Amino acid sequence: MPSPVRKAVIPAAGLGTRFLPFSKAVPKEMLPVIDRPVIQYIITEAVEAGIEDILIITSRHKKVMEDHFDRHAELEAVLLAKGKAEEAEEIRALGELADIHFVRQGEALGLGHAIGTARNHVGNEPFVVLLGDDVMMEPVLKGMIDSYAEHESSVVALMEVPEQEISSYGCAAAEPVGGSLVKVTDLVEKPAVEVAPSNLAIMGRYLFTPSIFDEIDNTKPGVGGEIQITDAMLSLLTSEPLYGYTFSKGRYDMGMKSDYLRAVVDFGLEREDLAPAFREILVEAVKREGLL
Ligand code: UTP
Repeated sequence: MPSPVRKAVIPAAGLGTRFLPFSKAVPKEMLPVIDRPVIQYIITEAVEAGIEDILIITSRHKKVMEDHFDRHAELEAVLLAKGKAEEAEEIRALGELADIHFVRQGEALGLGHAIGTARNHVGNEPFVVLLGDDVMMEPVLKGMIDSYAEHESSVVALMEVPEQEISSYGCAAAEPVGGSLVKVTDLVEKPAVEVAPSNLAIMGRYLFTPSIFDEIDNTKPGVGGEIQITDAMLSLLTSEPLYGYTFSKGRYDMGMKSDYLRAVVDFGLEREDLAPAFREILVEAVKREGLL
């Protein structure tokens, strides 16, 4: 029996340079989508996939994330005194979503380096990584954990992107296995369009065996001078199989302003309490702008 996947790592220590000026003082992982910060959607996704223990990789100026998942006894008491029991319970439950821990990455040296800081906490068991700025509406993580139960190998989420966009992503060459699964044969970080081996892009969900930590330790800075997780994965490929879990929709890169707007629209339309009024706002805007 493969060991169960219990732990998740959420790297959230980056500088967020694509979301300035907002991200100067407030982490982009705290951007609100309606009434919850991005990181809350991500933690909820992990918990729904069966994760019990979460390590958030953070940095200075990002303490607000810790506060969000802490108890706030004073606020709970005020809500209860006002007869707002449901709201009080919602606030209290945030502190109990999972066993949440924090570790700091002193310097943003890259995603591979950030994941490496989780080594002591993760220990010798398989774990998942959810990027702190990538929100998924589809149960991709759950599918990846199911794949691990069958193959006992690392898995990465992959999505086809338009050819000219592949140079913004880690790129995978792969062979079909069956269903959503493929077997990864090669990896390259941010390839030029002319040399990209495919248009399959790595999207912010990973499941790793603990061997990835030795590979990270041996990885030198790559593209952009950062320690790239794609390079560590390429090295892992020489000793262990790596699967890809393919999916085609429901992913939002919250580090990108246009994707953030798309998320607000899609999530707003999903909210029963807000959708009727929100639909009217959208229809009015479409008419006013002559969009149809
Ligand atoms: P990104 O490259 O999207 O984030 O990394 P960034 O570097 O903060 O953003 P830009 O490109 O400057 O706008 C994906 C995730 O990995 C984390 C980020 O916080 C983000 O959630 N990350 C990245 C780290 O934790 N440490 C790093 O050194 C780099």
